[in-house]
Amino acid sequence: MSSSVIGQPVTRIDGRLKVTGHAPYGVEHPIQNVAYGVAVPSTIGNGRIVKIDSAEAEKMPGILAVLHHGNIKQLYRPAGSLEEMSRPGENRPPFEDEVVYYYGQFVALVVAETFEQAQDAASHVHVQYDAKRPLVRLDQAAIPNKPPDAQSSRGNAEAAFQQAPVKLDATYVTPVETHNPMEMHGTIAVWEGDKLTLYETSQGVVNHHNVASQVLGMPLESIHVISPFVGSGFGDKLFPWPHSWLAAVGAKHVKRPVKVAVPRTLMFTTVGHRPTVQQRVRLGATQDGKLVATMNDVLQHTSMVHDYLENCVDATSMLYSCANLNAMQHNVPLNVGTPTPMRGPGRTPALFAIESAMDELAVKLNVDPLELRVRNYAEKDESSGKPWSSKHLREAYQQGADRFGWSKRNPKVGSMKKGNEILGWGMATCTWPCHQAGADVRVRLLADGTAQASCATQDIGTGTYTVFAEIVADKTGVPVDKVKVALGDSSLPPGPTSGGSAATASVIPAISKATQDAIQAVLKAASKAPQFHDVDLKTLKMSQGRVHTADKPPDSGVPFQEILASQKLVGLDGFARTGRRHRSYPGDPGPEQQQDKYSIHSFGAHFCEVSFDPEIVRLRVTRWLSVIDGGRMINQKTARNQILGAVVMGIGMGMLEETVYDTRTGHPINNNFADYMVAVNADVPEIDVMFLDYPDTIINEYGARGIGEIGLTGCASALTSATYHATGVRVRELPIRIEKLLA
Ligand code: MOS
Repeated sequence: MSSSVIGQPVTRIDGRLKVTGHAPYGVEHPIQNVAYGVAVPSTIGNGRIVKIDSAEAEKMPGILAVLHHGNIKQLYRPAGSLEEMSRPGENRPPFEDEVVYYYGQFVALVVAETFEQAQDAASHVHVQYDAKRPLVRLDQAAIPNKPPDAQSSRGNAEAAFQQAPVKLDATYVTPVETHNPMEMHGTIAVWEGDKLTLYETSQGVVNHHNVASQVLGMPLESIHVISPFVGSGFGDKLFPWPHSWLAAVGAKHVKRPVKVAVPRTLMFTTVGHRPTVQQRVRLGATQDGKLVATMNDVLQHTSMVHDYLENCVDATSMLYSCANLNAMQHNVPLNVGTPTPMRGPGRTPALFAIESAMDELAVKLNVDPLELRVRNYAEKDESSGKPWSSKHLREAYQQGADRFGWSKRNPKVGSMKKGNEILGWGMATCTWPCHQAGADVRVRLLADGTAQASCATQDIGTGTYTVFAEIVADKTGVPVDKVKVALGDSSLPPGPTSGGSAATASVIPAISKATQDAIQAVLKAASKAPQFHDVDLKTLKMSQGRVHTADKPPDSGVPFQEILASQKLVGLDGFARTGRRHRSYPGDPGPEQQQDKYSIHSFGAHFCEVSFDPEIVRLRVTRWLSVIDGGRMINQKTARNQILGAVVMGIGMGMLEETVYDTRTGHPINNNFADYMVAVNADVPEIDVMFLDYPDTIINEYGARGIGEIGLTGCASALTSATYHATGVRVRELPIRIEKLLA
C-alpha cells in the first residue's frame, strides 16, 4: 500500500474554518426572519400538570405563541431501534400528555420575536402541578424483582468464590455525569410549504432524519437534516432530544423559522447523562494470584419513560481469564431525565469497578498490580470463546511500564516522597470493542485534478473529514488539500452514526470501494482515449494520480485529469455501499462472516502519578501515560487528540464530576459550570500517548479499529489506585473529594 498520508499527523482539513469561526454550529446558521423558542421546564420531579395559564405570557411584547400538550397536534412515538437507525434519546415525545416524569421535562414552549422576550415570557407561564415526591437516588430505590437486563456467566462463580483462598468483596459507585460539550444542543427549524429543514448538532444525521420522520409523521423526502460541524458530542448528540421536535412544531405554528437552543442548565436534564452505576464486585483468587471466580452485580438507573442500558456485563465477562464468572445487571427507573451513552458507555463504569477490584486484590496478595493483570491475561475472549482479531495488551503493559519507570515503584503506601508531597502511582487496563456499521459513499474525480467525497455521516470534531480526504488521497494520489469532503447532510448518501468509536472503521471500506469505483470509471474513459486507444482496459491502472499500463511505472502514464479533459468530462463518479449491522444497508456479507469469527477489541494501559500534600489535603495529577493498542492509526494527530481528550475527561470523572439531585424535587442542584466541575488545564498534567499501531485487517484493509472512547475507560481506577498508593484511602465512590481523603 502506498502510504503517503495514512498514519501521518495530518492537520485536519476543517481546522482553519473552525479556528476562524467560519464553521457554523447548529444554531449559528444565518437564517432570515428567525423567531426564538424558549422551553418551559417542569419544576417538579414527579406528578401531573393540573393547569397551564399562559394568559399573562401571551400579552407580553413580541410573543408569537405559547404551546403545550393542550394545544398542539399529538406527536408520534418513534420505533426506537438502533439497528434501523431510528432511535431517539427519549421515547416519549414532548407534550405527550399532562404527566411529569422528571424535573426539567418540557411542559411548554414560548415563541417570540427575540430571545429575550421569549425567555422573559417563559418565566410568566404559570403551571399548576399535582406534585408527588420523586425517586431520584439509586440507593433509595428497591432492587427490582425481574430478570436481569444483561447477564453473562460461565462455570460456577458462587461455588468457586466460596472456596477461593483469597477473596475480595467490594462495591463501587460511579455517579451521574452530565454531558458538557463546548457546543450545547439546539435546533433551527425552517418550513417551506410542507418541507422541513432542521439545522442540528448531531452525531447521527441519518438517525435524526429517520426519527424526525417518525415523530412528526412525515415522509423522509420532506425532511432535510443539516449538521455540517459539531462542537463535540460524547453520546449526548447520538440520538435526538425533545427540543428538536419543539422547534419543528413551533416553526409550523408561527409560520416562521424557529430556533430552540438548550441552555447549559437544561443540558443537565433533557439531553441525557451517564447514569449512576453501582457494582458489587467479588473476586476469588489463588494465593499466587490466579482468578478463580469473578462476580459483578450491577445496578444502574434509567428514566421512567425510556429503558437505557449502561452495559457493564460485557466488559466484566471478557477482560480477564477466569473460568467461573457471573455478571448481571438490572436497571431501575428513577424520576430523572433519560440517561444516554457518554464516552465509553458501560465499559467506563465497568472498568472503574473491575480495575479497582484488581488493584485491591493485588494489595491483598502483595503482588504488583501490573503483574496481577499479566497473570490473568485473557488469551482469547472467554465470554464468547472466540480468538481476538488482534491483541497486544501484554506489549502495552510492558512498553508503558518501561516508559513510566514502573519498576521503580515502591508498593508500600505513602513511601514515595517528593519534598513535602507523597507520590502515588497507579495503573489500569483500558479496552473498547470495535464496531462497524454500513455506509454509502460517493467519490468523484474531476478534470481539474481534484476529488470530492460525500456521505451523510458527520464529523463531530474527531477528524472524519480528514479521514475521508486521507483515504481518497491514498487511493488516487490527489493531495489531501485537493479532496473536498461533504458530510453532515441527510441529502447525501446515508452514513453511520458517529458513535461507539465506529465511524472511522465503518466508513473506510465504503470510501475505499467508492474511490476504486471512480478510478475504474477513469480507466474506462482512458481505454477510449487516444493515449490508450489500443490498450486492454484490464491492463490499465491508476497510481499516484496517473493512468498507466500495469507493466510500466506510474510516471510513464497520463495524469487522470488529462484523460477526463480529453474526453470532455467534468468528472467521473464512484459509489459504494457497504453493510454491517444496519438493515437499511444491505451490503455484501463477506467481511461480516469473516469478522464474526473473531472478538474484535482495542486494549491499552494507563499509568498515572498523583502527588498528595497531606498538610492541606491537596491531590494533583502530575504524570500520565496512555499506551493504546487500537489497530492502525489513520492520522497520528487526530488520534492523539482523541486520547488526550479522553484522559482529560477521565481526570474529571475521577476527581470532579458528579450531578447531584435535590431529593425533594429532582432538581439537579449543580446544573452550571460553577458547581459542576469539569477538568480544566490546571487539573491536567502533560499527557503522554503511545500507539502500538498494529493494523487489524480483520476489520478493514487499513487495519483501523477506532479510538474515540478507549482512552476514558480505566482512567478513574488508575487515579483511585494512585490515590490509594499515596494516601492509603481507597475511594470506591467517585469522585475523589478532599473530604474523602481527610484521615
Ligand atoms: Mo459515543 S458514547 O458512542 O458518542
